[in-house]
Amino acid sequence: MHKKIGVIRGDCSSHEIVDQTLRVLDFIAEKYGHEFEYTPIAMGGDAIDQFGHPLPDHELEKALASDAVLLGAVGGPKWEGMPGELRPERGLLALRKGMNLYSNLRPAKIWPQLADASPLKKEIVDKGIDFIIVRELTGGVYFGEHKTFEENGILKAVDIMPYDENEIRRIGRVGFETAMKRNKKLTLVDKANVLDTSRLYRKVMDELKKEYPEVEYDVMFVDNAAMQICKNPSQFDVIVTENMFGDILSDEASEITGSIGMIPSSSLGDGTNGLYEPIHGSAPDIAGQNKVNPIACILSAAMMLRYSFDMVREAQAIETAVEAVLNQGLRTADMMSEGMQETGTVEMTDAILKALETCN
Ligand code: IPM
Ligand code: MG
Repeated sequence: MHKKIGVIRGDCSSHEIVDQTLRVLDFIAEKYGHEFEYTPIAMGGDAIDQFGHPLPDHELEKALASDAVLLGAVGGPKWEGMPGELRPERGLLALRKGMNLYSNLRPAKIWPQLADASPLKKEIVDKGIDFIIVRELTGGVYFGEHKTFEENGILKAVDIMPYDENEIRRIGRVGFETAMKRNKKLTLVDKANVLDTSRLYRKVMDELKKEYPEVEYDVMFVDNAAMQICKNPSQFDVIVTENMFGDILSDEASEITGSIGMIPSSSLGDGTNGLYEPIHGSAPDIAGQNKVNPIACILSAAMMLRYSFDMVREAQAIETAVEAVLNQGLRTADMMSEGMQETGTVEMTDAILKALETCN
Protein backbone atom coordinates (compact mmCIF):
# COMPACT_ATOMS: atom_id res chain seq x y z
CA MET A 1 0.00 0.00 0.00
CA HIS A 2 1.07 3.55 -0.67
CA LYS A 3 0.33 5.99 2.15
CA LYS A 4 1.05 9.66 2.59
CA ILE A 5 2.10 10.42 6.13
CA GLY A 6 2.32 14.00 7.35
CA VAL A 7 5.22 14.24 9.79
CA ILE A 8 5.42 16.93 12.44
CA ARG A 9 8.87 16.70 13.99
CA GLY A 10 7.79 19.06 16.76
CA ASP A 11 9.89 20.89 19.32
CA CYS A 12 12.72 20.15 21.76
CA SER A 13 13.21 16.41 22.30
CA SER A 14 10.33 15.61 19.94
CA HIS A 15 12.72 15.48 16.95
CA GLU A 16 14.54 12.59 18.51
CA ILE A 17 11.48 10.40 18.98
CA VAL A 18 9.96 11.22 15.59
CA ASP A 19 13.21 10.44 13.79
CA GLN A 20 13.42 7.09 15.56
CA THR A 21 9.78 6.34 14.78
CA LEU A 22 10.43 6.94 11.09
CA ARG A 23 13.17 4.32 11.24
CA VAL A 24 10.58 1.88 12.53
CA LEU A 25 8.07 2.87 9.84
CA ASP A 26 10.76 2.49 7.15
CA PHE A 27 11.47 -0.96 8.42
CA ILE A 28 7.78 -1.89 8.34
CA ALA A 29 7.42 -0.52 4.80
CA GLU A 30 10.36 -2.58 3.62
CA LYS A 31 9.33 -5.76 5.40
CA TYR A 32 5.66 -5.73 4.43
CA GLY A 33 5.97 -4.20 0.96
CA HIS A 34 4.43 -0.77 1.61
CA GLU A 35 5.48 2.66 0.53
CA PHE A 36 5.28 5.47 3.06
CA GLU A 37 5.68 8.94 1.64
CA TYR A 38 6.55 11.48 4.32
CA THR A 39 5.50 15.13 4.07
CA PRO A 40 7.11 17.38 6.67
CA ILE A 41 4.60 19.69 8.32
CA ALA A 42 5.62 22.62 10.50
CA MET A 43 3.50 23.15 13.59
CA GLY A 44 4.16 24.59 17.05
CA GLY A 45 7.40 26.34 17.93
CA ASP A 46 9.03 25.20 14.71
CA ALA A 47 6.26 26.89 12.67
CA ILE A 48 6.52 30.03 14.80
CA ASP A 49 10.24 30.19 14.04
CA GLN A 50 9.75 29.59 10.32
CA PHE A 51 6.52 31.47 9.60
CA GLY A 52 5.67 33.52 12.70
CA HIS A 53 2.51 31.43 13.29
CA PRO A 54 2.01 28.09 15.10
CA LEU A 55 -0.04 26.57 12.24
CA PRO A 56 -0.16 28.53 9.00
CA ASP A 57 -2.96 27.53 6.58
CA HIS A 58 -0.53 26.01 4.10
CA GLU A 59 0.71 23.60 6.77
CA LEU A 60 -2.84 22.62 7.80
CA GLU A 61 -3.53 21.96 4.10
CA LYS A 62 -0.68 19.44 4.06
CA ALA A 63 -2.19 17.66 7.06
CA LEU A 64 -5.60 17.53 5.38
CA ALA A 65 -4.00 16.10 2.22
CA SER A 66 -2.28 13.28 4.15
CA ASP A 67 -3.62 9.80 4.86
CA ALA A 68 -2.57 10.27 8.49
CA VAL A 69 -0.34 12.57 10.52
CA LEU A 70 2.37 11.59 12.99
CA LEU A 71 3.39 14.06 15.66
CA GLY A 72 5.95 14.08 18.47
CA ALA A 73 5.16 16.97 20.81
CA VAL A 74 5.24 20.74 20.67
CA GLY A 75 6.17 23.61 22.98
CA GLY A 76 9.15 24.62 25.06
CA PRO A 77 10.64 27.45 27.11
CA LYS A 78 11.74 29.35 24.01
CA TRP A 79 8.12 30.23 23.15
CA GLU A 80 6.74 30.56 26.65
CA GLY A 81 6.48 34.34 26.70
CA MET A 82 4.43 34.46 23.48
CA PRO A 83 0.87 35.81 23.56
CA GLY A 84 -1.86 33.12 23.88
CA GLU A 85 -2.77 33.16 20.19
CA LEU A 86 0.81 32.52 19.14
CA ARG A 87 1.85 29.82 21.53
CA PRO A 88 2.96 26.47 20.06
CA GLU A 89 0.04 24.68 21.78
CA ARG A 90 -2.36 26.85 19.82
CA GLY A 91 -1.03 25.19 16.66
CA LEU A 92 -1.93 21.79 18.06
CA LEU A 93 -5.45 22.91 18.93
CA ALA A 94 -5.90 24.45 15.48
CA LEU A 95 -4.71 21.21 13.89
CA ARG A 96 -7.17 19.12 15.92
CA LYS A 97 -9.98 21.51 15.05
CA GLY A 98 -8.92 21.94 11.42
CA MET A 99 -8.85 18.17 10.87
CA ASN A 100 -12.10 17.82 12.90
CA LEU A 101 -10.52 15.22 15.16
CA TYR A 102 -13.13 15.10 17.86
CA SER A 103 -12.29 11.76 19.42
CA ASN A 104 -9.06 11.15 21.23
CA LEU A 105 -8.27 7.66 22.49
CA ARG A 106 -5.73 7.34 25.27
CA PRO A 107 -5.08 3.82 26.50
CA ALA A 108 -3.86 3.26 30.06
CA LYS A 109 -2.50 -0.23 30.27
CA ILE A 110 0.08 -1.53 32.64
CA TRP A 111 2.90 -3.38 31.00
CA PRO A 112 3.62 -6.17 33.50
CA GLN A 113 7.33 -5.54 32.91
CA LEU A 114 6.89 -1.98 34.24
CA ALA A 115 4.79 -2.82 37.27
CA ASP A 116 7.69 -1.86 39.55
CA ALA A 117 7.82 1.61 38.02
CA SER A 118 4.17 2.32 38.91
CA PRO A 119 3.78 4.62 41.92
CA LEU A 120 0.80 2.53 43.08
CA LYS A 121 1.02 -0.23 45.66
CA LYS A 122 1.67 -3.68 44.30
CA GLU A 123 -1.69 -5.04 45.48
CA ILE A 124 -3.50 -2.40 43.43
CA VAL A 125 -1.36 -2.91 40.33
CA ASP A 126 -1.77 -6.68 40.61
CA LYS A 127 -5.52 -6.34 40.13
CA GLY A 128 -4.71 -5.10 36.62
CA ILE A 129 -4.81 -1.71 34.87
CA ASP A 130 -6.28 -1.77 31.41
CA PHE A 131 -8.65 0.99 30.44
CA ILE A 132 -8.99 3.60 27.78
CA ILE A 133 -9.95 7.24 28.02
CA VAL A 134 -12.12 8.52 25.19
CA ARG A 135 -11.56 12.25 25.36
CA GLU A 136 -13.67 14.79 23.46
CA LEU A 137 -11.09 16.86 21.61
CA THR A 138 -12.59 19.74 19.65
CA GLY A 139 -15.05 21.32 22.05
CA GLY A 140 -15.47 22.57 25.58
CA VAL A 141 -13.40 25.17 27.34
CA TYR A 142 -10.46 24.66 24.98
CA PHE A 143 -12.47 26.15 22.15
CA GLY A 144 -14.88 28.48 23.93
CA GLU A 145 -14.27 32.19 24.21
CA HIS A 146 -11.21 33.25 26.19
CA LYS A 147 -10.68 36.80 27.26
CA THR A 148 -8.90 38.92 29.81
CA PHE A 149 -10.20 42.41 30.49
CA GLU A 150 -10.42 45.15 33.07
CA GLU A 151 -13.65 45.88 34.91
CA ASN A 152 -13.79 48.74 37.37
CA GLY A 153 -10.03 48.77 37.53
CA ILE A 154 -9.85 45.04 38.28
CA LEU A 155 -8.40 42.48 35.90
CA LYS A 156 -10.80 39.68 35.02
CA ALA A 157 -10.47 36.60 32.84
CA VAL A 158 -13.18 34.40 31.37
CA ASP A 159 -13.03 31.00 29.66
CA ILE A 160 -16.28 29.65 28.33
CA MET A 161 -17.10 25.94 28.12
CA PRO A 162 -19.70 25.32 25.42
CA TYR A 163 -21.03 21.97 24.20
CA ASP A 164 -23.96 21.18 21.98
CA GLU A 165 -25.87 17.92 21.96
CA ASN A 166 -24.44 16.82 18.60
CA GLU A 167 -20.86 17.18 19.82
CA ILE A 168 -21.79 15.11 22.86
CA ARG A 169 -23.66 12.47 20.88
CA ARG A 170 -20.80 11.79 18.49
CA ILE A 171 -18.18 11.38 21.26
CA GLY A 172 -20.68 9.43 23.35
CA ARG A 173 -21.14 7.07 20.44
CA VAL A 174 -17.37 6.56 20.18
CA GLY A 175 -17.42 5.74 23.90
CA PHE A 176 -20.12 3.09 23.48
CA GLU A 177 -18.55 1.65 20.32
CA THR A 178 -15.16 1.44 22.03
CA ALA A 179 -16.74 -0.33 24.99
CA MET A 180 -18.46 -2.80 22.63
CA LYS A 181 -15.02 -3.76 21.26
CA ARG A 182 -13.63 -4.23 24.77
CA ASN A 183 -15.24 -5.37 28.03
CA LYS A 184 -18.54 -3.56 27.47
CA LYS A 185 -18.27 -1.22 30.44
CA LEU A 186 -18.51 2.53 29.98
CA THR A 187 -18.17 5.30 32.56
CA LEU A 188 -19.14 8.86 31.80
CA VAL A 189 -16.93 11.17 33.86
CA ASP A 190 -18.36 14.63 34.48
CA LYS A 191 -19.19 17.29 37.05
CA ALA A 192 -22.96 17.14 36.79
CA ASN A 193 -23.37 18.36 40.36
CA VAL A 194 -22.07 21.75 39.20
CA LEU A 195 -21.92 22.14 35.42
CA ASP A 196 -24.72 22.49 32.87
CA THR A 197 -22.51 20.99 30.16
CA SER A 198 -22.16 17.87 32.30
CA ARG A 199 -25.91 17.64 32.78
CA LEU A 200 -26.32 17.81 29.01
CA TYR A 201 -23.77 15.02 28.67
CA ARG A 202 -25.88 12.90 31.02
CA LYS A 203 -29.09 13.59 29.13
CA VAL A 204 -27.61 12.70 25.75
CA MET A 205 -25.83 9.63 27.09
CA ASP A 206 -29.06 8.42 28.72
CA GLU A 207 -30.69 8.43 25.29
CA LEU A 208 -27.70 6.82 23.61
CA LYS A 209 -27.39 3.99 26.10
CA LYS A 210 -30.70 2.55 24.88
CA GLU A 211 -28.92 1.68 21.62
CA TYR A 212 -26.26 -0.26 23.52
CA PRO A 213 -28.13 -2.51 25.97
CA GLU A 214 -25.12 -4.80 26.26
CA VAL A 215 -22.92 -2.06 27.67
CA GLU A 216 -22.84 -1.63 31.42
CA TYR A 217 -23.02 2.14 31.67
CA ASP A 218 -22.42 4.30 34.72
CA VAL A 219 -21.52 7.87 35.65
CA MET A 220 -18.91 9.30 37.99
CA PHE A 221 -17.96 12.81 39.10
CA VAL A 222 -14.53 13.84 37.92
CA ASP A 223 -13.11 14.49 41.38
CA ASN A 224 -14.12 10.99 42.44
CA ALA A 225 -12.76 9.57 39.18
CA ALA A 226 -9.37 11.17 39.89
CA MET A 227 -9.36 9.38 43.22
CA GLN A 228 -10.65 6.06 41.88
CA ILE A 229 -7.94 5.98 39.19
CA CYS A 230 -5.35 5.75 41.98
CA LYS A 231 -7.38 3.70 44.40
CA ASN A 232 -9.02 1.09 42.21
CA PRO A 233 -8.11 1.48 38.52
CA SER A 234 -9.11 -2.08 37.70
CA GLN A 235 -12.79 -1.05 37.86
CA PHE A 236 -12.51 0.89 34.59
CA ASP A 237 -12.83 -0.35 31.04
CA VAL A 238 -13.74 2.73 28.97
CA ILE A 239 -14.05 6.26 30.31
CA VAL A 240 -15.70 8.88 28.13
CA THR A 241 -15.31 12.50 29.09
CA GLU A 242 -15.17 16.08 27.90
CA ASN A 243 -12.00 17.75 26.68
CA MET A 244 -10.36 19.23 29.77
CA PHE A 245 -11.30 16.42 32.16
CA GLY A 246 -9.81 14.00 29.61
CA ASP A 247 -6.61 16.02 29.44
CA ILE A 248 -6.15 15.92 33.19
CA LEU A 249 -7.22 12.33 33.84
CA SER A 250 -5.12 10.93 31.00
CA ASP A 251 -1.92 12.27 32.56
CA GLU A 252 -2.90 10.67 35.84
CA ALA A 253 -3.84 7.41 34.12
CA SER A 254 -0.56 7.26 32.25
CA GLU A 255 1.54 7.80 35.34
CA ILE A 256 0.03 4.87 37.22
CA THR A 257 1.00 2.57 34.35
CA GLY A 258 4.68 3.20 35.01
CA SER A 259 5.63 6.01 32.66
CA ILE A 260 3.96 8.70 30.62
CA GLY A 261 6.72 7.94 28.08
CA MET A 262 4.88 4.75 27.09
CA ILE A 263 1.41 6.04 26.20
CA PRO A 264 0.41 6.66 22.59
CA SER A 265 -2.82 8.25 21.39
CA SER A 266 -4.99 8.48 18.34
CA SER A 267 -7.25 11.35 17.34
CA LEU A 268 -9.87 10.73 14.71
CA GLY A 269 -12.95 12.35 13.26
CA ASP A 270 -15.44 10.84 10.83
CA GLY A 271 -12.90 9.59 8.29
CA THR A 272 -9.64 7.66 8.53
CA ASN A 273 -7.21 10.60 8.40
CA GLY A 274 -6.11 10.91 12.00
CA LEU A 275 -3.42 12.41 14.17
CA TYR A 276 -1.18 10.10 16.17
CA GLU A 277 0.92 11.41 19.02
CA PRO A 278 2.38 10.40 22.35
CA ILE A 279 0.50 11.98 25.22
CA HIS A 280 3.68 13.33 26.82
CA GLY A 281 5.13 16.76 26.17
CA SER A 282 8.31 17.85 24.41
CA ALA A 283 10.58 17.24 27.43
CA PRO A 284 12.84 20.29 26.90
CA ASP A 285 14.93 19.44 29.96
CA ILE A 286 16.38 16.35 28.30
CA ALA A 287 16.39 17.51 24.66
CA GLY A 288 19.43 16.55 22.61
CA GLN A 289 20.71 14.08 25.19
CA ASN A 290 19.50 10.82 23.64
CA LYS A 291 17.48 10.24 26.80
CA VAL A 292 13.85 10.60 25.79
CA ASN A 293 11.72 7.47 25.58
CA PRO A 294 10.77 6.84 21.92
CA ILE A 295 8.21 4.13 22.74
CA ALA A 296 5.06 6.29 23.06
CA CYS A 297 5.77 7.76 19.64
CA ILE A 298 6.57 4.36 18.13
CA LEU A 299 3.35 2.94 19.60
CA SER A 300 1.48 5.95 18.19
CA ALA A 301 2.76 4.93 14.77
CA ALA A 302 1.44 1.43 15.46
CA MET A 303 -1.97 2.94 16.24
CA MET A 304 -1.75 4.85 12.96
CA LEU A 305 -1.11 1.64 11.04
CA ARG A 306 -4.04 -0.07 12.75
CA TYR A 307 -6.69 2.66 12.76
CA SER A 308 -5.91 4.75 9.69
CA PHE A 309 -4.38 2.18 7.35
CA ASP A 310 -5.99 -1.02 8.58
CA MET A 311 -2.53 -2.64 8.79
CA VAL A 312 -3.29 -4.82 11.78
CA ARG A 313 -0.45 -7.30 11.36
CA GLU A 314 2.10 -4.51 11.04
CA ALA A 315 0.76 -2.72 14.13
CA GLN A 316 0.86 -5.95 16.05
CA ALA A 317 4.47 -6.56 14.99
CA ILE A 318 5.54 -3.21 16.46
CA GLU A 319 3.69 -3.85 19.71
CA THR A 320 5.24 -7.30 20.01
CA ALA A 321 8.70 -5.87 19.37
CA VAL A 322 8.21 -3.26 22.11
CA GLU A 323 7.17 -5.99 24.48
CA ALA A 324 10.24 -8.00 23.55
CA VAL A 325 12.67 -5.20 24.40
CA LEU A 326 10.95 -4.63 27.72
CA ASN A 327 11.33 -8.33 28.42
CA GLN A 328 15.03 -7.98 27.66
CA GLY A 329 15.22 -5.51 30.55
CA LEU A 330 15.96 -2.42 28.46
CA ARG A 331 14.63 0.82 29.93
CA THR A 332 14.99 4.50 29.15
CA ALA A 333 15.59 6.73 32.18
CA ASP A 334 11.91 7.58 32.75
CA MET A 335 10.99 3.93 33.39
CA MET A 336 14.18 2.72 34.97
CA SER A 337 13.93 0.43 37.97
CA GLU A 338 16.35 -1.72 39.90
CA GLY A 339 18.09 -4.49 38.00
CA MET A 340 17.15 -3.12 34.57
CA GLN A 341 19.53 -1.85 31.90
CA GLU A 342 19.36 1.86 31.16
CA THR A 343 19.49 2.70 27.49
CA GLY A 344 19.24 5.75 25.22
CA THR A 345 16.67 6.79 22.63
CA VAL A 346 18.59 5.47 19.63
CA GLU A 347 19.69 2.25 21.30
CA MET A 348 16.12 1.54 22.43
CA THR A 349 14.99 1.90 18.82
CA ASP A 350 17.87 -0.27 17.58
CA ALA A 351 16.65 -2.99 19.93
CA ILE A 352 13.05 -2.60 18.71
CA LEU A 353 14.22 -2.87 15.09
CA LYS A 354 16.18 -5.96 15.92
CA ALA A 355 13.15 -7.50 17.62
CA LEU A 356 11.04 -6.61 14.57
CA GLU A 357 13.28 -8.69 12.37
CA THR A 358 11.96 -11.78 14.09
CA CYS A 359 8.25 -10.77 14.28
CA ASN A 360 5.82 -11.91 11.61
C1 IPM B 1 -2.34 16.97 25.54
C2 IPM B 1 -1.64 18.25 25.85
C3 IPM B 1 -2.33 19.39 25.11
C4 IPM B 1 -3.76 19.46 25.59
C5 IPM B 1 -1.62 20.73 25.24
C6 IPM B 1 -0.20 20.67 24.73
C7 IPM B 1 -2.39 21.85 24.57
O1 IPM B 1 -1.60 18.47 27.22
O2 IPM B 1 -2.41 16.59 24.35
O3 IPM B 1 -2.81 16.35 26.47
O4 IPM B 1 -4.03 20.08 26.63
O5 IPM B 1 -4.62 18.90 24.93
MG1 MG C 1 -2.33 16.86 28.38
